[in-house]
Amino acid sequence: MPNMKAIQIHAYGGPEVAQYEDVPRPEAKANQLLVRVHAAGVNPIDWKLREGFLSAPLPMIMGIDFSGVVESVGPGVTRYRSGDAVFGQVTDASGSYAEYAVAMEPDVARKPEALDDIRAAALPVAGLVPWQALFDTAKLSAGQKVLIHGAAGGVGGFAVQFAKWKGAHVLGTASGTHVEQVRQLGADEVIDYRKTKFEEVAHDVDVVLDTVGGETQERSWQVLKRGGVLASLVQPPSAEKAAMHGVRGFFVRQTPNGEQLAAIADLVVKGRVKVNVETVLPLSEARKAQELSKTGHSGGKIVLKV
Ligand SMILES: NC(=O)c1ccc[n+]([C@@H]2O[C@H](COP(=O)([O-])OP(=O)(O)OC[C@H]3O[C@@H](n4cnc5c(N)ncnc54)[C@H](OP(=O)(O)O)[C@@H]3O)[C@@H](O)[C@H]2O)c1
Repeated sequence: MPNMKAIQIHAYGGPEVAQYEDVPRPEAKANQLLVRVHAAGVNPIDWKLREGFLSAPLPMIMGIDFSGVVESVGPGVTRYRSGDAVFGQVTDASGSYAEYAVAMEPDVARKPEALDDIRAAALPVAGLVPWQALFDTAKLSAGQKVLIHGAAGGVGGFAVQFAKWKGAHVLGTASGTHVEQVRQLGADEVIDYRKTKFEEVAHDVDVVLDTVGGETQERSWQVLKRGGVLASLVQPPSAEKAAMHGVRGFFVRQTPNGEQLAAIADLVVKGRVKVNVETVLPLSEARKAQELSKTGHSGGKIVLKV
């Protein structure tokens, strides 16, 4: 079995447990693609997993999001062949901070030529979760009012643009220089949460997208109109509080979905959605990338070039 370079952990812990090392190259099993990775997207879940947030089996190659080229396909794969440019999410047993990674056929999409690998690798987790929360769970429609917390973040930046594309009235929270950045993305009203309490500005909101949790989630109930929806990506909302306010609360965990990725890529290629990549680092600097993600104020996506 040939080797490849990858970022792997053998124990949970701080950035020092993420080792840049030689590991055996994986193989595509039934319905899987082996992908030569060109770029790997970095998400907060990556450093959370490194710290032991879920007890995943070790050793573990880090990373979920990738963009690259199909190297080979396993039995049963019908839509892709060697040489196809694809992007998406790896299987649980694989990792994208590596030269090669394995993905299930339905979890990937064809990468349009007009979309480069760096931006494609930034799309999967951060693009799918607001898509699923706003459209599949909250059923956001044109004319509705939506409040997006963390609107400058990897997820929030896509959420603002998806909601505008849908025809919603968009309010977003951000801090400092990110306020102008969120305005540029198309938000109708941006609240600097360090200067103004969002509940003093936001009223009669149909949907709240919570990417922050804690006190931000607690204070969000009061801004919703009756029948509204609070969709949190970080913490299950209290059923009692939802009932008390006459609204519904959901915890949304993203699921891989190649068809939705293709729809998102189409919006990017048509210029309807911008991919805000803030930092690109080489694979060997994955520790630095995760530390930057952990600050919680990165103001865009972080991507590793492989
Ligand atoms: N459930 C799921 O499937 C799922 C999927 C993806 C992500 N997530 C979670 O969603 C969260 C956000 O992910 P991300 O990739 O967008 O992270 P990110 O790129 O690091 O962005 C975090 C954003 O949060 C903002 N923020 C921090 N404190 C805030 C506050 N009190 N009020 C409003 N905004 C605040 C920051 O804004 P400023 O810098 O402007 O202050 C920053 O833009 C993470 O916890 C992640 O694990 C969950």
